[in-house]
Parts: sequence; C-alpha cells; structure tokens
Amino acid sequence: MTMKKSRRIRKAVIPVAGMGTRFLPASKAIPKEMLTIVDRPTIQYIVEEVVDSGIEEIIFITSAGKDAIENHFDYDYELDMVLKAKGKTEMHREVQHLADLIDIVSVRQKKPLGLGHAILSARNVVGDEPFLVLLGDDLVLAERPCCRQMLDLYEEVGESIVAVQTVPQDQTFQYGIVEGELKRERVHEVTKMMEKPAPGTTDSNLAIIGRYILEPEIFEMLARTTPGHGGEIQLTDALLAMALKRTMYAFEFEGTRYDAGDKMGYLQAVVAYALHHPQLKDGFRQHLLEVAGGL
Ligand code: UTP
Repeated sequence: MTMKKSRRIRKAVIPVAGMGTRFLPASKAIPKEMLTIVDRPTIQYIVEEVVDSGIEEIIFITSAGKDAIENHFDYDYELDMVLKAKGKTEMHREVQHLADLIDIVSVRQKKPLGLGHAILSARNVVGDEPFLVLLGDDLVLAERPCCRQMLDLYEEVGESIVAVQTVPQDQTFQYGIVEGELKRERVHEVTKMMEKPAPGTTDSNLAIIGRYILEPEIFEMLARTTPGHGGEIQLTDALLAMALKRTMYAFEFEGTRYDAGDKMGYLQAVVAYALHHPQLKDGFRQHLLEVAGGL
C-alpha cells in the first residue's frame, strides 16, 4: 500500500438537494433530512459526526424548499428570548448549541442533475484541497465516527477513499459497487466501479455508502462526466475516471449504516438509535420485547 504525505482535511460537503421521491408524501413540504430519528433530525446526526471528527467547515448543497435545514443550525432570536423568559435553561442551551456547532455555508444546486452535479457545485467553495462528502440521508451508527475512521486512514495513505459495506449479492444492483484488491484488513485498492450493475455483471458485493474523502481532482472529472444512469451526472462515473488515473481505496468502516432516505431504512434507524438513547433505551427495549411477544 502506498503511503503518501496527506494534506489536512478541513471541509465537509453535505449534499441535501435531492428531491426525496422515495419518501413521499412525508418529504413533500419537509426535507427528508429533517425527519426525526428519535429526538433530532437525520441531518443533525450527520453534522454531529462531522463535528466529532474534527472538521472545521460544512458546505451544504441545497435546493428550493430546503431552508429548514439551514434554519435548524442557525440562531433563532425569538425562540432564544422565549426560552430564556420561561426559564427553560436546558432547552435553551440545547438550541443554542446547534448554532454554535460549526461554520456552515450553503451553495445552491441550480438543477437536480444528480449527486455528481451537486458535488461539482461546491467546487469554488472547496478550492484546491481534499475534502469529505457525507450524504444528507445516510446515517452511520458507530463507536468511532465513520468520518474519523476515514480521516485516520487518509492520514496514512493520502489518496481518495470511499466507504463501503458488504451487501447480499442479490442486492448489488441497488448500489454503486466497487471491485478491488484487498491490501490489508478492511482496505481495498479500487480497480473497478459500477453504478447499479445489472445482476450477474460483478462478483463483488462491496457497496459504496454515503461517505467519501476526495482529492480536488474529482472536480475535473465531474466537469467532464456526461449524464449516466438515470440521466444524472453520477459521482460513481467520475470516481471511476479518477481511480483509473490514481490510487483510490475502498474502506470497510466499523459501524452500521442506515439509508434514512428510504422508508424501511428510516424505520430501522429509528429503532437502532432509540436502543442507543441513554434515557429511552431500557423502556424502548422492554416495549419491543412486548410487541415481538405479541406477534
Ligand atoms: P438520492 O439517491 O437519495 O436521491 O440522493 P434523492 O433525490 O435525494 O431521493 P430519491 O431517490 O428521489 O428518494 C443521494 C444524495 O444526493 C443528494 C441527495 O440530497 C442525497 O443526499 N442529491 C441527489 C443532490 O444533492 N442533488 C441531486 O440532484 C441528487
């Protein structure tokens, strides 16, 4: 495995401009990233993962109708005054903490042309430095934040990294799939990538999930990428172009990923996060046992 001097990663791009059609009608007037997982919106867990990993700045890629996401991490002076006047100190602290978490800037994706296009919209704000990408509806429940695990690997290898998980072979057609050479436990050097491959076209079951560390050259690749699967500019196509030019790693992170943009994934996330919630876990576990016993 090549060891390269890595540059420090300071910025995380979080695309939240998608239409969320899988979660209709809930996502019609409310961004799917704002749907609640136990006691906070999905996007808050993702921002907290970034903060806990030591990143300094977040760039949201947004679209019309997503203001609630920016407002969630902003000061609300009226609410501030009301909570103070009512003496709700704990709640006041909690709400203020959100606005103090990290510097956030927003960039509009002018047209919904796909994830690759959304990331390309961040080009000027990211500049010429490596950066993290986290999808706004992909949750990873882990002891060490998934991003932190990836940053540790990046510090060693200094090349782009995609987070992957193994999925059942009959589900590979739903994911971006990586073929690679195992370099050490959990780390593969990427040799090939396919977006939603037709059944039987690959033996690999390493599926890309919504966490990436990208070298800034990805912007060149994205600018040259023509619309692919579904008529969208696919990040996977640009990643493959980059993997052919320079080394890229696929990393099997430690933790469990939930696709909170999908109804079943969302329900699984609610259960998993409730079972980890310090105040709720015991009562909720008891309730689940009662429900399961009655099935
Ligand atoms: P999804 O595949 O979940 O697409 O996007 P979507 O449009 O959000 O939702 P569905 O499939 O219609 O239900 C993966 C990530 O890419 C972002 C989404 O916000 C999500 O974080 N995205 C997707 C954009 O920012 N812009 C796009 O044009 C497409």
